[in-house]
Amino acid sequence: MIPLRHFPSSISFRVFAPRTLATRHRPRSTLWYRMASTTNTSNWGLKDPTLIKMQGYIDGKWVDANGGETILVTNPATEEELGTVPEMGPEETEVAIAAAAKAFQTWGKTTAKYRHDILIKFFRLMQEHHDDLARIITLENGKTLAEAKGENVYSASFLEWFAEEAVRTYGEQVPSPLSNVRNVVIKQPVGVVSILTPWNFPSAMITRKLGAALAAGCTAVIKPPPETPFSALALAELSRRAGVPDGVINMVTTQKNVQEVGREMCESKVVRKVSFTGSTPVAKSLYRMSASTLKKMSIEAGGNSPFIVFDDADIENAVEGAILCKFRGSGQTCVCANRIYVQSSVYADFASRLAEKVATFKVGNGLDETTTHGPLIHDRAVSKVVRHVDDAVALGASVLVGGHSPDTTQTKRIGSFYPPTVLSDVPITAALNREETFGPIAALIKFDTEEQVIAMANDSDVGLAGYFFSRDVGRVWRVAEALEVGMVGTNTGLISNASIPFGGVKQSGLGREGGHSGIEEYLNQKLIAFGGL
Ligand code: SIN
Repeated sequence: MIPLRHFPSSISFRVFAPRTLATRHRPRSTLWYRMASTTNTSNWGLKDPTLIKMQGYIDGKWVDANGGETILVTNPATEEELGTVPEMGPEETEVAIAAAAKAFQTWGKTTAKYRHDILIKFFRLMQEHHDDLARIITLENGKTLAEAKGENVYSASFLEWFAEEAVRTYGEQVPSPLSNVRNVVIKQPVGVVSILTPWNFPSAMITRKLGAALAAGCTAVIKPPPETPFSALALAELSRRAGVPDGVINMVTTQKNVQEVGREMCESKVVRKVSFTGSTPVAKSLYRMSASTLKKMSIEAGGNSPFIVFDDADIENAVEGAILCKFRGSGQTCVCANRIYVQSSVYADFASRLAEKVATFKVGNGLDETTTHGPLIHDRAVSKVVRHVDDAVALGASVLVGGHSPDTTQTKRIGSFYPPTVLSDVPITAALNREETFGPIAALIKFDTEEQVIAMANDSDVGLAGYFFSRDVGRVWRVAEALEVGMVGTNTGLISNASIPFGGVKQSGLGREGGHSGIEEYLNQKLIAFGGL
C-alpha cells in the first residue's frame, strides 16, 4: 500500500518481513495469545502506574482467565506490546453476572444521594488522573494526546452529569378516573446490565453507559474491546477507589471468545438490559440474542453522516466544521461526516480551502506533540479505507490531497497509518456513499438543489447524525426537519456532549444516551395504585 503520496516524513518505513512470535512489534491484524504476561508497566510513562491492570475485574477482585490464556494488546502507532489482558469466556462471564446480581441486592436499594456522592468521587478521580488516563488512551487507541485529553474530559463529564441526574429521577402522581383511587408512578433500577463498548472512545463510551446505570441503581458487567482494554480497567480501578462496592462493576476481557461472551451477556435471564455501541451487524446479532429474554436494549450503531454545504453558508466556517467533524479521531467516530455534499456554485472554493488545510496535517505517533492526527486502530481499518479510495477513484473521483499508490514495493510501514485525504467529484455509486468508511477520507460530492441533496442525504439505511451549513433561517428549519437522523448539527461540526440525547434513527440504533433521557433507559416505571380510600 506504500509509497504514500503526501505522506509526512515523520513516519518511519521498514522492509516488510514475516514476523515471528519473538518479534516485539506485532500487527494488530493478527490475534496473538500466550499464557502469561511479561510486560511491566514502568515504560508507560504514568505518574501512577498502578492504574494499569492486566487482569479482569470480577466481584471487586482482579482475576485471570480460568484457562490462563491472555490477549496481547499493542500500540497502533508503534506496534509495540503494551501488555496483556485475560482471554475470558462464558464461564467467567457467568460468574461476573452472578456477582452483579448479588451486588444489585444492596446497590439497587441505596439512596440516589449516596450514588450521587460516589459518582462525584469517581468523576474527581478521573480529573485527578487526567494526564495518565489520557496517556493510556493514546497508547492503546493511537489518537493524539490532545484528543485523548478531550476524551477524558468528555468521559468524566458523563459521571458528573449522571450524578446530578440520579437525584432527579422523579416519579409522578397521575389523576385517577376513580374517586377512591390514587395513582403514583415510581422509578426503579432495571437490574443487572450488560455493557459492550468500542475501541474508538475507550473511556467515554463506557462512562456514557456506566454513569447512567450506576446513577439509576443498576449493576454492570462490561466487555471492553480487546484493542483498548486498559482505559476500561483503569476506570474499574478508579471506581474501586471512589467506593463503588464489590460486584457493582465487573469487567470481562475477551477477543477469541467474543461471540460466546456476548451470547451469555445477552441471553442470561439474570441480565435485564443490554447497552451496545458498535457496528450495525453486531448490533443486530446482539438484538436477536437478547430477544429470547425480551431485554431492554440501547443500541448506538453505525452512522453514514451526510454533511451539506449550501451556497449561502459561511464557507470558512463550513471548512472548519468539516475538519472537526470528518477528521476527529482520524475519522473513526460514528458521527463523523462520511458524505460531504457541496452546492455547485461554492464547490471549487470549498474543495480548495479544505484541501489546503488538510495538506498541513501531520500524521504520526499521538504522543508526539507536533502530531495532529494519529493512526487508524489496525491494519483491517486501513484496508477498508484503501478499498473505499480505490473504488471511488476507479469510478472517476480525483485525489486532491493524500491517497495512496498501489503496493508495488513490498515495503511496510510501522503502525496502521493512512494519510488524511480529500477526494473530489465522488460519484454517488461509490461504496463510501453506502458504507461508513471510519477513516480520514473527505469525500466531496456536488449537488444543485436543496430537494436533490435532501434525497441523497436520506438515501441510507442508517441515520445517526447529519450536518449542514446555511445562513438562511428558513432553510435551516426545513433541512433540519427533513434529515432522517437522530442528531443534526447546523453550522457546527461538533455536537457531542453529556447533556444531549445521543442516538439515531433507522438502523443506527435504539434509545438515547446522555441528556435527561439517558438515565431513563436504566429505569423501569412502576405504577402503585392506592385503592379503597
Ligand atoms: C461514537 O463514535 O460512537 C461516539 C461519538 C461521540 O460521542 O461523539
